Amino acid sequence: MKFFVDTADTAEIADLAATGLLDGVTTNPTLIAKAGKDFIEVTREICGLVDGPVSAEVVALDHATMMREAEVLRKIADNVCIKVPLTIDGLKTCKALTSDGTQVNVTLCFSANQALLAAKAGATFISPFVGRHDDNGFDGMDLIRDIRLIYDNYAFETQILVASVRHGVHVLESARIGADVMTAPPAVIKGLFKHVLTDKGIEGFLADWAKTGQNIV
Ligand code: E4P
Repeated sequence: MKFFVDTADTAEIADLAATGLLDGVTTNPTLIAKAGKDFIEVTREICGLVDGPVSAEVVALDHATMMREAEVLRKIADNVCIKVPLTIDGLKTCKALTSDGTQVNVTLCFSANQALLAAKAGATFISPFVGRHDDNGFDGMDLIRDIRLIYDNYAFETQILVASVRHGVHVLESARIGADVMTAPPAVIKGLFKHVLTDKGIEGFLADWAKTGQNIV
């Protein structure tokens, strides 16, 4: 399963990219606002930090303007992936862009039928929002299971990008189900490295090592 980080904070992205475990980045208008930098500039900066896809979202609601915005965004770098909302105009834009070889991430997916439509529109990625789905009384991971089943039934190549990931259980379940990608905030990804017994084990080993009076270097 690929790991994308869901942020426009370049320091956090650089930090995670240095682990060698980062496969891409997702942003959205809220995350861009939070970063407080120029959209085009910060997107260019992010594209230089990772080799994988960097999702940059259009903000227009009509197909013609989405296409114009996508034109600007895709010129930023070769690894820009255009993010469009799951609407009729969004999927028209998805179809046009992917037919032209541009990567597209279809966002704000909350049903398996929506995911089916996105795959038929040739989406590179579909982003079901599991955390927000949970918040509204549904089981976000059931949605991922349904999409996996449907995509496998018809051998769709659209990659399932689990989004709105809030904790490690979302990550674990995504991997169990066979999602292609998950995107999570930096804190959630960093939390995956942690285990209380790892910390306790290091503490014990270091205490015993000190008794030997030796150094490795
Ligand atoms: C995905 O691409 C979105 O940017 C993101 O995962 C939304 O997550 P949120 O529900 O935490 O805002």
